[in-house]
Amino acid sequence: MVKKIRAAITGLGMSVPQKVLTNQDFEKFLDTSDEWITQRTGIKSRRIVQNGQTTATLGTQAAREALAFAGLEANQLDMIICATITPEMPFPATACFIQQALEVKDIPAFDISAACSGFIYGLTIGSQFIQNNIYRRVLVIGAETLSRFTDYQDRSSCILFGDGAGAAVLEATDDDRGVLYSVMKTDGAGWDFIHVPGGGSRSPAGEQTIAARQHYIKMRGRDVYKFAVEKMQWLLGDCMAKCNLKADDIDLVVPHQVNIRIIESAASKMHLPMDKFFINIDKYGNTSAASVPIALKEAHQAGRIGPGSVVLLVAFGAGLTWAGAVVRF
Ligand code: ACO
Repeated sequence: MVKKIRAAITGLGMSVPQKVLTNQDFEKFLDTSDEWITQRTGIKSRRIVQNGQTTATLGTQAAREALAFAGLEANQLDMIICATITPEMPFPATACFIQQALEVKDIPAFDISAACSGFIYGLTIGSQFIQNNIYRRVLVIGAETLSRFTDYQDRSSCILFGDGAGAAVLEATDDDRGVLYSVMKTDGAGWDFIHVPGGGSRSPAGEQTIAARQHYIKMRGRDVYKFAVEKMQWLLGDCMAKCNLKADDIDLVVPHQVNIRIIESAASKMHLPMDKFFINIDKYGNTSAASVPIALKEAHQAGRIGPGSVVLLVAFGAGLTWAGAVVRF
């Protein structure tokens, strides 16, 4: 019998800037408090890029760490996918800059714009190429510098976001491990829940767009909150049903680190204990596409993921998009 080829995660890496922005730092220039931010979001600090650090530099560092973990050289890769909504520039793709930094040639390298769901979108696309026996080794990166697009005068959104990158190496295997299931969804009708209105073809960059602060993230927080709770619950249910998993079969859930209340609410509705969820939102805030791979890397480092672990990944974000995956390590 021909064995099914799957995409196994064989390497994980991450990179966050050294500069820390704490809740107390916000108290110095905004009408907010550590107490409000902690209670409403679970965030205590986030990392922020400094001069010279960009989405591609963070993504490259995370990629190098993931490759070293997998024991691979960059020139053994067949494809590079970078998930980001804070690219190096409108074009070319941030993946091109990372490819150049890794000194790889003649393989496809492209970006995916699916906001916080981007890494799971990338994982899904990369694993398809492996399952269909087209490629053997794919690098998937989630990298963001949200601080470059954050309006630090808008207290309802700026306290949420941080910078960072995470990366995973996918390799073909016929073992009983790898990406067992994944799902991607979009509802474009909700495009204005979270968006950056200026600088694109609809509202090209100019003095007026800058004066109107259109190059910063605009967010309908309460609407995003409701959407996020509903979709996280749906994703957990879908992943469990499609893989015939009961709560006891799941070793760890690695959710998009968005807001601790959103995660707790979805966990409670699904009757899943919070100790099954990996949480590092307190340290990094919401790093969009980087959030799931950074959490995966830290969960592995903490010994929460090992050989045979069954891990659920769930994320949602601008688009609106939502995506989930079940991975056996
Ligand atoms: N400090 C103090 N008070 C604040 C702050 C702040 N930083 N921000 C808002 N408030 C005030 C509001 O002005 C409001 O005051 P009012 O009652 O006098 O009008 C009050 O706090 C309550 O505001 P809400 O918006 O109802 O607060 P909520 O409990 O919903 O929390 C939050 C706001 C944290 C933004 C929450 O709605 C949330 O997390 N939403 C999801 C957002 C999200 O995850 N976005 C990222 C998506 S990922 C992506 O694609 C990039």
